[in-house]
Amino acid sequence: MAQQRILTGITPSGTPHLGNYAGAIRPAVEASRQSDAESFYFLSDYHALIKTGNPERVRRSTLEIAATWLAAGLRPERVWFYRQSDVPEIPELTWLLTCVTGKGLLNRAHAYKAAVDKNALDGADPDAGVTMGLFMYPLLMAADILMFNAHRVPVGRDQVQHLEMARDIAASFNHRYGEHFVLPEAAVDEAVATLPGLDGRKMSKSYDNTIPLFAPAAALKKLVFSIVTDSKAPGEPKETEGSPLFQLYRAFAAPGETQAMRARFEEGIAWGEAKEILFDKLESVIAPMRARYEELIAEPERIEQVLKSGAERLRAKYATPSIAKLREAVGLRRLDRTLAETAQTQPKAQARPQFKQYREADGLFYFKFVDGDGRALLQSRGFASPREAGQAVAAIKDGADFAPWADSAEGAARDDIARALDALCAE
Ligand code: TRP
Repeated sequence: MAQQRILTGITPSGTPHLGNYAGAIRPAVEASRQSDAESFYFLSDYHALIKTGNPERVRRSTLEIAATWLAAGLRPERVWFYRQSDVPEIPELTWLLTCVTGKGLLNRAHAYKAAVDKNALDGADPDAGVTMGLFMYPLLMAADILMFNAHRVPVGRDQVQHLEMARDIAASFNHRYGEHFVLPEAAVDEAVATLPGLDGRKMSKSYDNTIPLFAPAAALKKLVFSIVTDSKAPGEPKETEGSPLFQLYRAFAAPGETQAMRARFEEGIAWGEAKEILFDKLESVIAPMRARYEELIAEPERIEQVLKSGAERLRAKYATPSIAKLREAVGLRRLDRTLAETAQTQPKAQARPQFKQYREADGLFYFKFVDGDGRALLQSRGFASPREAGQAVAAIKDGADFAPWADSAEGAARDDIARALDALCAE
C-alpha cells in the first residue's frame, strides 16, 4: 500500500500554551518520529487572517509557533514543514473547489451558524460581522488537505465537521472531473487529554485562562500558584478527580510519578506543596525546550529559511504538478492543442464507456452513451417507458445502427462512437 499521508494545520493567531503543547504539538512530534508515514505540518496563516486583523500579531504568532514546533523536536528534514501562504497552489485549488461546492453545504458549517444564531439573538442582520473568509473557511481547509491527498488528518473535535465537508467537496470534484482526490479521514485522538486552564475550564485563549508554554520561569511559577483549588486545609484528603492541578501534573509526569502524587493527595498534601511539585515538574520538562526556543526566536532568518525551503521542495514535488493536472481536468487548458492531441499526452482514463439511462423533467426516458472521460457520444430521443429505452440500448449493444433512436452528441464522429461501442462490448 502507498505510504499514509498525515496532515495537519496550526493557525498562527496567538501564543502557544501548555494545552497546545500537550494536546497537539507533543503527540504530533512523537508520531512523526516513530511512524514511517509521510507527515505534513503547516502554519495556516491564511486562516489566521479570518481570526485577526492585526498584521503584527500574525507575523509574531507565525514566528512563535514555528519556533515552538522546532524547539519541541520536529525535524524539518523528516517531515514537510511549511507555511500555507508560501504555497500559492492552495488558494488556486480553493477556487476550483469553490466551483463544485454548494453554498448550502457551507451554510451548515458550525462556526458560520453560530455567528448567525448570535446575530439572531441580538436582533441583528443574520450576516452582520460575518466575512466571506469565515464563510469560506471550510473550503480553504479542504484545499489544504486535498492539495496533498492526505489520508489522515489529526484534529480536535471541533474540526470534525470540516473534514466531512472536505470529503463531500472531494467527492463532488471527483464526480464531475474524474478521480483526482483521496477522501480524507479525521483522526480524533481520544487519549490526548484536553488540559484544564487556570480556572479549571478547558485551557483556551477564548477563556483567557492559559499558561503560555514558554513563559519565563518566574512567570510560570506565578501562574501555577494561581491555579484554582478547593479550600481543603493541609492534612485533609484531596480529590484527584476534577482537580486541575492533578490533571496538569499527570499530563507532564511519568506514570509512576502520577501514582505517587495520587497517594500524596489521599494523604492530604497542602495545596501550596502540590503547586510547588507541579511547577518543578513543568519547569524540568519545559526548561530545555525554552532554551532552544529562545535561541530560535533570536534568529528569525533561520526559521524563515526552514519554512521557505519546506514550501519550495513541497511545491516542486507535489503542489505544482498536481495543480497542472487539475487545471487540465477542469478545462483551463492550452489553446494550441486539439482535444485529440491533449488526449494523447494524457494518461488513458480508467473508466469504460457506458450507457446511462435517466428521466427528464418532460416525463420521458432517455439514454446517453458516454466515453471513459465522461464525454457524451450519443444522445437518445425520449421514450415513453424505461423498458423501450432499455430495448434500444440492448439493440445498439448488439450491433444495430443507433440512428433510429439516437444522434451523435457534441459532434462525436461515427468512428469514435464505433470504437467506444467495441470497447464496451469487448468487456
Ligand atoms: N482549522 C484548523 C484549526 O483552527 C487549522 C487548519 C487549517 C487545519 N487547515 C487545516 C487543520 C487542514 C487540519 C487540516 O485548528
